[in-house]
Amino acid sequence: MSKGLGSAVHLAQLLISESVRSGGTVVDATAGNGNDTLFLARLVGSEGNVYAIDIQEMALQKTRALLEGAGVAGRVTFLHASHEEMDKLVPGPVDAILFNLGYLPGGDHSLVTRAGTTIRALQSALKLLRPGGRVGLVIYTGHPGGREEYDHVEGLASALDGSLYRVIKIHFLNRAAHAPVVIVIEKAGVFDESQEAAQNH
Ligand SMILES: C[S@@+](CC[C@H](N)C(=O)[O-])C[C@H]1O[C@@H](n2cnc3c(N)ncnc32)[C@H](O)[C@@H]1O
Repeated sequence: MSKGLGSAVHLAQLLISESVRSGGTVVDATAGNGNDTLFLARLVGSEGNVYAIDIQEMALQKTRALLEGAGVAGRVTFLHASHEEMDKLVPGPVDAILFNLGYLPGGDHSLVTRAGTTIRALQSALKLLRPGGRVGLVIYTGHPGGREEYDHVEGLASALDGSLYRVIKIHFLNRAAHAPVVIVIEKAGVFDESQEAAQNH
């Protein structure tokens, strides 16, 4: 059944799914309560690998419990680290990387993603990505620092070379100004028929 267009997280998951192969490797850059990790673990299948990263041990414990409950923890590596380190911690190339920014719902709001580390993490993610792979970001602007983080991510994404990356942004046109925004970045493939067409428009 369709989940509709109302959830930014769902839209980001949908958009990165197409680049994820069964048995592939993906990264959840902000594990949090584990919902995105669970989605990714099911997506890669029993032969796949998910790297779930969070700076909070408590978030990783919650994620592990959720994944164990679903019987898919065996395909997940839990990394207690900052996501800017991902290109050193995760063996690449990877099919997709998902960032669900902000703070852990129900957790300590001071342990929030921040513009500086998010930008370095995004640069790290782009290094890890395979040709044809995608990075999805769900960005929240309603909390302190959120707007600054969004501006930095949008700035970096907008400045990427259009012959090497395709970048889209989804924002809700008829919701509050601080509604979440989705940005998806696709690394161009080695052989990519749509590239020439895209450049002509
Ligand atoms: C919005 S929550 C993620 C929600 C999660 N994906 C889920 O499905 O429940 C954001 C998470 O990012 C984590 N975080 C903040 N800064 C981080 C960093 N530098 N590296 C990795 N994780 C970070 C927070 O601890 C928090 O758990």
